[in-house]
Amino acid sequence: MKEFNNKELEIVKYIKEYLPFREKHIISTRELSIEIAEKYNIDTEKTSIAALCHDLGKRYKDDEMRKIIFDNDNIEYPKHITGALLHARVSSIIAEKEFNITDKEILNAIESHTVGHANMSMLEKIIYAADYLEPTRKLETAERIREKIFIDFDKAFLEVVLESITFVLSKNQYLSDKTIELYNSLVVN
Ligand SMILES: [Fe+2]
Ligand SMILES: [Fe+2]
Repeated sequence: MKEFNNKELEIVKYIKEYLPFREKHIISTRELSIEIAEKYNIDTEKTSIAALCHDLGKRYKDDEMRKIIFDNDNIEYPKHITGALLHARVSSIIAEKEFNITDKEILNAIESHTVGHANMSMLEKIIYAADYLEPTRKLETAERIREKIFIDFDKAFLEVVLESITFVLSKNQYLSDKTIELYNSLVVN
C-alpha cells in the first residue's frame, strides 16, 4: 500500500471520525485507483487525494447536503436529486474548505464520480471506475471488469458506465442527463 503523506493522514483522520462506516470502501477505492493510475501513467498523488475525498459528503443527511450546496453554490436541487447524487458535490466542497485542496483536476474527479459527464479526464474516469470496481463491494460483475481495466481501459470503463446505468434503470431511479452524455461520448467517436 502506498504510504499516506501528511495531507492524506489528515483526511484519513476525518474519515475515521465522521465516516467510519465508509472507511473500508474509501481505502479500497484509493488502492485500486492508484494501481490503475500507475498502469496508465496518471499522477498517483492526485489520484490518492481524489479517492480519499470522493465520499466525504456521505457524513451528511440529504437535507444537510442540500443546505451545504445551497450556501456554497446558490443552487437548489429538486427533490428527486438525492444524497446519492448530491454527495459528490458536497465531497468536493469539503475537500476545498476543510483540506485546502484547490487543484481543479482533483476537485473535478471528486465531483464527477457519481454521474460523470462527457469528456471526462483520465483521472476522473479512474476515480469513477475504482469507486465501482473496488473489491470490498464484492460485486460479481465488478470482479470481471476489474481485471479488464488493466488491459483495455476504454472498454472496461464503458462497461462500468453501463453497469451503473443499468442499476439506476433497474431501480426506476432518475438518470442524470450528464450520465447519458457520458455514455454517448463513449460510443460515438
Ligand atoms: Fe460516492
Ligand atoms: Fe464511493
